[in-house]
Amino acid sequence: MKNAQAKKFKRHTITSALPYANGPIHIGHLAGVYVPADIYARYLRLKGEDVLFIGGSDEHGVPITIKARQQGVSPQEIVDKYHTIIKDSFEKFGISFDVYSRTSSPIHHKTASGFFEKLYNNNEFIERTSEQYFDEATQHFLADRYITGTCPHCGYEKAYGDQCENCGTSLSPNDLIDPKSVLSGNKPVKKKTKHWYLPLDKYEPWLKEWILEGHKDDWKTNVYGQCKSWLDTGLHPRAVTRDLDWGVKVPVKGADGKVLYVWFDAPIGYISASREWSGKTGKDWEPYWKDESSRLIHFIGKDNIVFHCIIFPSMLKQEGSYILPDNVPAFEFMNLENDKISTSRNWAIWLHEYLEDFPGKEDVLRYVLTANAPETKDNDFTWKDFQTRNNSELLNIFGNFVNRTLILTQKYFDGKVPAANEFTEDDKAALEEIKSFPERIGSSLDNFRFREALTEMMALARLGNKYLTDAEPWKIFKTDVDRVQTILNVSLQICANLAILCEPFLPFTAKKLSDMLNLSGLTWKDGGNTSLLETGKQLNKAEYLFEKIEDAIIEAQVQKLLDTKKENAENEIKVKPAKENIGFDDFAKLDIRTGTIIEAEKVPKTKKLLKLKVDTGIDQRTVVSGIAEFYQAEKIIGQKVSILVNLAPKKLRGIDSNGMILMAEDKNGKLCFVSPTEDFNDGSEVR
Ligand code: MF3
Ligand code: ZN
Repeated sequence: MKNAQAKKFKRHTITSALPYANGPIHIGHLAGVYVPADIYARYLRLKGEDVLFIGGSDEHGVPITIKARQQGVSPQEIVDKYHTIIKDSFEKFGISFDVYSRTSSPIHHKTASGFFEKLYNNNEFIERTSEQYFDEATQHFLADRYITGTCPHCGYEKAYGDQCENCGTSLSPNDLIDPKSVLSGNKPVKKKTKHWYLPLDKYEPWLKEWILEGHKDDWKTNVYGQCKSWLDTGLHPRAVTRDLDWGVKVPVKGADGKVLYVWFDAPIGYISASREWSGKTGKDWEPYWKDESSRLIHFIGKDNIVFHCIIFPSMLKQEGSYILPDNVPAFEFMNLENDKISTSRNWAIWLHEYLEDFPGKEDVLRYVLTANAPETKDNDFTWKDFQTRNNSELLNIFGNFVNRTLILTQKYFDGKVPAANEFTEDDKAALEEIKSFPERIGSSLDNFRFREALTEMMALARLGNKYLTDAEPWKIFKTDVDRVQTILNVSLQICANLAILCEPFLPFTAKKLSDMLNLSGLTWKDGGNTSLLETGKQLNKAEYLFEKIEDAIIEAQVQKLLDTKKENAENEIKVKPAKENIGFDDFAKLDIRTGTIIEAEKVPKTKKLLKLKVDTGIDQRTVVSGIAEFYQAEKIIGQKVSILVNLAPKKLRGIDSNGMILMAEDKNGKLCFVSPTEDFNDGSEVR
């Protein structure tokens, strides 16, 4: 990434993805978007840059309306509840938004609707009428999530119109067998409806030039790669309106009952938030969005890439008066104890719960999430690692160094900064190295390498800790006070540097440390200065910056997760219990052989039956089998099977069936052959 500093910008507009207000937020959100965005914003502010750091709740979209319906309340009640919880969590974790807005606010409705209108008046949209499922009982067009039916791939009966959660296949409502409306349970009908489409295909050449050529070197590989693959596949017009009654109304005649698609209105939320900020502060918002000397940066998770790199920039470009994002640092996902974070399975560490369980340890979580930031690949959060990083990094290195320095200063010099006398070679080396840290940390941050930046910051703490330990002032206080003065002066200067340079990462710690050192108002350019604390300056009382996290605390958290696992397992449909015991003689009566299907055809006018001819090694015989929903006749010729050959013959649909093919059936009724796993002689006995 080379152009990060190449151009000098006048101001920075930093956005962080607006979280959906349909649930509280968890460590994955913090790790993948808000902590890095906050570190970056704080860093720039410390450097004296002009920053507008934007956040807010994304309060539209179908999942919110579904949740409201399930709970029998209005969508507004849902978003009010979660907006409050989310906003509070962000504040408590020190996410330093200049504004935290919400998309259900009037200013957003006005902004988003005006944006749509402008594109509409410029004839930018394509109007298209298509057939969509409609619930006649409730008079609603049905969003994908409002339709369920049988999955054509696995037979699961509760698949959604956009995805089957049993086999993971992504679907469209038309794929579902036996579609049902979630609203009424009735079969929906097809009905014509008109929508407006953004002609992304038209912008493709421009997008290719802007991204593939313009941002090849400065966008992260994961971001660039995803964009390239979208652009290589080819873009299509995309509907930006929906038939729904929750959202920003489409400001066009004849669009009753239609709202803007949530992904059209939400990113405009960044602009609405800026206007809200402007109203509150009296500052002008427009330069942050319209002046070419401003730098727009979107912090997002990887699932948001296409919206922030392709769709929103296309909207901004067509609107005409806005700048485009200069960079879109997208993060991968944070897992929890080796398992994907999942709201529905309650597999998460919720921020509001962490705040209750670990009061005063907000920086510890910020630290651990940054140290393991899923920058280039998914990463894992474990409680054990959380404990280790607290105890052996924050406490043993950073905290221990600062604490020893301050306690010794208190003890030997009444808490007054002692003079630096003669420097040894070691002192000089340490002082020289301190100068390099602002640049080392800063250049990592300029390139969005947060883990590396944090490691550099900790290298300064390590330097201090080692310096103090090696110098052993406690051993020479009686014999060489002059030397002890120098050692503690140097150590204190390192502490002062830490107070500045750790601020983006550990804002609460930085504040505590500055207070102890009686420092305020320092900025990034004071970093590297080794005479920040003048001789004789009175320091304040030493307090602990970090404390040990005991095993019992960690075990309790691990237990909480184990309980969740157990609960989830209990909620799953149970495997049937074993049947009553039988004697071996009973079993021995069954004559099961290996065989091969040599012919297969569908039994006419049945849904489930196939007529098979099976080579049993003993003979070739006809068997009627109820597997047609899962296996196509022509695909199973040659299939190895296990077959019960001494089952009394039975007539099925007029066909004599001789024996039974053994199948396993899962809890959803899905079938699967139970057959030899290698090429095995037909007629071999199964016992
Ligand atoms: N709510 C979306 C999500 O959580 C993010 C929206 S970002 C915005 O994935 F730009 F649209 F606001
Ligand atoms: Zn399926």
